[in-house]
Amino acid sequence: MTTPLSIPTSEGVTALGGGAPAGLPDVAMLAQLAGEFFAMLPSGTPDARLPFGAPPQPAQTELALGNRAPALAPAAGTPSGAPDEVVDAAPAAGRAGKPALGVPEAHLTELPTHAPPQAPNAPGSPPGGVSSPYYFLGEASSYPSAQPAGKGVAVPEDRVTAQSFGLPGDADLRALLEGLDGGRRSAPPASPSAPAFYFIESDPGDPAPTVAQGAHPPFDVNAVRRDFPILQERVNGKQLIWFDNAATTHKPQAVIDRLAYFYQHENSNIHRAAHELAARATDAYEGARDKVARFLGASSSEEIIFVRGATEGINLIAKTWGWQNVGEGDEIIVSHLEHHANIVPWQQLASAKGAKLRVIPVDDSGQVLLDEYRKLLNDRTKIVSVTQVSNALGTVVPVREIVAMAHRAGAVALVDGAQSVSHMRVDVQELDADFFVFSGHKVFAPTGIGAVYGKRDILENMPPWQGGGNMIADVTFEKTIYHGPPTRFEAGTGNIADAVGLGAAIDYVERIGMENIARYEHDLLVYATRGLLTVPGLTLVGTARDKASVLSFVLKGYKPEEVGTALNEEGIAVRSGHHCAQPILRRFGHEATVRPSLAFYNTCEEVDTLVAVLHRLARR
Ligand code: ALA
Repeated sequence: MTTPLSIPTSEGVTALGGGAPAGLPDVAMLAQLAGEFFAMLPSGTPDARLPFGAPPQPAQTELALGNRAPALAPAAGTPSGAPDEVVDAAPAAGRAGKPALGVPEAHLTELPTHAPPQAPNAPGSPPGGVSSPYYFLGEASSYPSAQPAGKGVAVPEDRVTAQSFGLPGDADLRALLEGLDGGRRSAPPASPSAPAFYFIESDPGDPAPTVAQGAHPPFDVNAVRRDFPILQERVNGKQLIWFDNAATTHKPQAVIDRLAYFYQHENSNIHRAAHELAARATDAYEGARDKVARFLGASSSEEIIFVRGATEGINLIAKTWGWQNVGEGDEIIVSHLEHHANIVPWQQLASAKGAKLRVIPVDDSGQVLLDEYRKLLNDRTKIVSVTQVSNALGTVVPVREIVAMAHRAGAVALVDGAQSVSHMRVDVQELDADFFVFSGHKVFAPTGIGAVYGKRDILENMPPWQGGGNMIADVTFEKTIYHGPPTRFEAGTGNIADAVGLGAAIDYVERIGMENIARYEHDLLVYATRGLLTVPGLTLVGTARDKASVLSFVLKGYKPEEVGTALNEEGIAVRSGHHCAQPILRRFGHEATVRPSLAFYNTCEEVDTLVAVLHRLARR
């Protein structure tokens, strides 16, 4: 499609034979232009949401979101951890002759062939040392549980144990953490059936066993790792070990390629012009919104607002819904676990409006006390805003119950998913959350992009936050008419490319399957917890029965930053500090902790290295 065509938009009228008055376009003319425009398209259905139709686009790989319940550790009998069903997996040819993710098919041949460097004979390498550029590609059929759940397919054993993925040990996290004396255990936990930890008295001459030793596990961590080029980085002469995933996650090649593709082939402002690149960029951006909606289980893409991240999302809600609905004497509830992003905006609102901030306490394991929460609710409660996973302790919070209790009290509920979406399936409709926020960079997407989910009827009635281009339907000096959601909340030129990158990251994790990720990480968390508990003088901070990813601790005789520095010397990245969550650390008597945090590309060997270094420190 090369014929130039100019389309009037709310941002102005681009030249097309004149005739259109300034300001809002003439409806009849719009209809005529739209008709002409669509008639020129060789195929496809115009996207009704856009002011112009979608131009022909190369087929993209589409993934369906399974409607599965959020689960860190699925109970026996729950659907398998199969990767999400590929609905329209156009077999695009990618690098090394393999299909690629996230990049429109038409331009795949133009992509550079820059598979990440890989050590020869690395564990899990395909024969001949050729790296599969993207996880699962060309391997899906051999994936043992790669079938849609609930379709009469025999579901393999789904009990979550450390054996599920060939990890040593079969400890249950709950059993492991139960009865800990203030996060400490005097002797290594008994595990008669498990092999010894690799790190204990291992012979340095012995090669480290691999996670997938002697098996064909359903989740191949080594294949996953090949998708993340930065994991090959060396730091202080050592292989990088990235245990700072709660702060940010690394990006798979699929996301990196998607960004490059956007800037090479699609870059334009969106929603504003009739030219080809504007249409490509708009389609890519709106396509990413669709993916976010599906990823969260929203009922419509119009419930998804792009923002910079969870922090901006909470600020948006506090300064729009909050400003409109919270008044003098009203109450806002947060939990003691919140990071500063879910405290400060509410404090600012409360102070401006004469409202009160109330805090759900936690028990000594770091879990919220629902009975205490119940006592805080009353008819002055306007909003309850809680994290789904604590960034400082790793506690998985029972947000569904918290939301239901808020609703019974007549309040709305916001769930902060900054630390949850990369670790477990989220379904906002199942949670019945009124708002949900997350940051892309914590789910393998670029920084500077995230999303707010809001129930449609709530968003409809919310005033805009920032004013400017894109969010308006009509502006005169006397008054402005705003667009409906989500556009009303996206003033100015947004982070278009990174939104598209977020869509590619979602494709990537859905391809692996959130249940697979949750189960593997759970097992790795069990393994790491057992390992840390063997270190003399180490105290875990946060021992809730339900945890994800995070292992906060302090080590006797060391300041957290000293431990962080010592680990860095070995190439191990952890966060040490207050984790932007000072109130919860102080609740446990600390100003700072060391915080390794896991993602699905971490391995038992990496945990072994961490634990070995900690043992050395503890011995000094
Ligand atoms: N909130 C991020 C963290 O937990 C930055 O490290």
